Amino acid sequence: MSTAFDVIVIGAGPGGYIAAIRAAQLGFKVACIDEWKNAKGGPAPGGTCTNVGCIPSKALLQSSEHFDHANHHFSEHGISAKDVKIDVAQMMARKESVVKQNNDGILYLFKKNKVTFLHGSGNFVGKSEGGYEIRIRGQAEEIITGKQVIIATGSNARNLPGVPFDEVNVLSNDGALRVGAVPKKLALIGSGVIGLEVGSVWRRLGAQVSILEGLPTFLGAVDEQIAKEAKKAFEKQGLKIELGVKVGEIVNGKKGVTVNYTNAKGEALVLEVDKLVVSIGRVPNTMGLDAQAIGLQLDERGAIAVDAECKTNLPGVWAIGDVVRGPMLAHKAEEEGVAVAERIAGQHGHVNFNTIPWVIYTSPEIAWVGRTEQQLKADGVAYKAGTFPFLANGRARALGDTTGMVKVLADAVTDEILGVHMVGPQVSELISEAVVAMAFKASAEDIARICHAHPSLSEATKEAALAVDKRTLNF
Ligand code: FAD
Ligand code: NAI
Repeated sequence: MSTAFDVIVIGAGPGGYIAAIRAAQLGFKVACIDEWKNAKGGPAPGGTCTNVGCIPSKALLQSSEHFDHANHHFSEHGISAKDVKIDVAQMMARKESVVKQNNDGILYLFKKNKVTFLHGSGNFVGKSEGGYEIRIRGQAEEIITGKQVIIATGSNARNLPGVPFDEVNVLSNDGALRVGAVPKKLALIGSGVIGLEVGSVWRRLGAQVSILEGLPTFLGAVDEQIAKEAKKAFEKQGLKIELGVKVGEIVNGKKGVTVNYTNAKGEALVLEVDKLVVSIGRVPNTMGLDAQAIGLQLDERGAIAVDAECKTNLPGVWAIGDVVRGPMLAHKAEEEGVAVAERIAGQHGHVNFNTIPWVIYTSPEIAWVGRTEQQLKADGVAYKAGTFPFLANGRARALGDTTGMVKVLADAVTDEILGVHMVGPQVSELISEAVVAMAFKASAEDIARICHAHPSLSEATKEAALAVDKRTLNF
């Protein structure tokens, strides 16, 4: 007889493990299945985010930023640091230990919340009276039954046609975060989020980095003014970004990779590099689910088709996170996980898609929430804009990092905040204030009238809100 659960979650990435914990908190008998293995073959819950995404990339960004500061900024503070060296093996070992802390933390949370964790791959077998039957192939094989199933199987890196990832020379996000020595020359295809974050890591450590982007615009989803400021800063640091290119033949040879491409002027060019990272987006992962065994519908992108509430075409089957429509972000997956668990419990789980923040963890960081100026124009919305540069912020001067600005966009009539866009130091943290403000439908004047600590970078947000009404105090 198979073990019966109220809720089975397939995938223990940020969407799945959070959904499992919330469902258990609500009193359900929950199982969470995940197939990810650590180097020793043991369980490594946390998905892409914990193992080869958010967490390891931020660990390497931190290490490489320290290296960059020691090399280029310590002297401004009167600190001499000669012969600064990077031990890539130690940097990677630290990253792995950060990943492991997160894996172990999730296993602890499962225990604490009485979620049954099953290490192995899960696939649909069929439907019986007890619910959906799922086979787990791990150390042993077993079939479990769930009245409700939440699919959270995430996404995989997209490869260029005919150019498979070998994770030695042609790297996905996985290989790009495991390189054993600083490459002399590194190329990245795609100047999206991974291209910029991973490119920054290896540039700071001394690689000559070229990013080839197919689109003619840089970071098209970002507010144009912010994207322009960021591009200027990245190019000043030495990141070479070419827009509007057409990538041609790629040869993965013994000594490295040859990338043939045509630039925006139509000139045929060749780039010889030691390593190539392909960061051209990700594809939803439904491989191995046997979706057809229960007649689960996919959409034209191969994502699981869901409605606004994450319901699939089958009663009692839900899907969340990267495997469905919407931004591929860990916190979006988590919000959907909580909302679905609450809906299963008959509550009114809710995700506000208009207030999901985005952050790119480069230096300067880029962060935003809500609509950009170009979107407001396209939507025909009358708006007011206020900007404030970090150059005029005391804390930014003390930090020695005055790049960038905060920009607040508010409705011309009601003053409601419609979007907040930032480029500069620690804006990954500053953006939360804007998210809270938008969630509570605050006006720009609300932020302008709130007392912000001095000296703090957050004063730039207050000043940008004041700028909406053309009354900055410090600029
Ligand atoms: P995933 O995290 O992909 O988890 C899916 C899990 O399901 C995996 O563990 C997989 O093994 C398991 N699985 C799949 N199929 C099966 C099966 N049949 N049986 C059992 N288990 C299965 N997002 C951010 O918000 N902030 C960031 O800073 C950030 N940085 C990133 C950096 C990189 C390099 C990358 C690649 C991504 C980054 N992301 C970031 C995106 C983020 O990682 C994803 O949006 C997030 O992990 C999606 O969560 P998920 O739960 O939907 O899926
Ligand atoms: P992306 O969608 O951010 O960027 C891909 C880029 O590649 C785009 O600019 C696109 O125009 C370009 N491109 C696509 N095909 C191309 C081609 N053939 N030739 C040249 N350029 C091409 O995708 P990316 O960087 O792979 O990241 C995937 C996702 O992972 C992100 O969209 C994001 O959801 C998530 N992520 C989030 C992070 C964060 O929140 N800080 C960090 C890293 C990833």
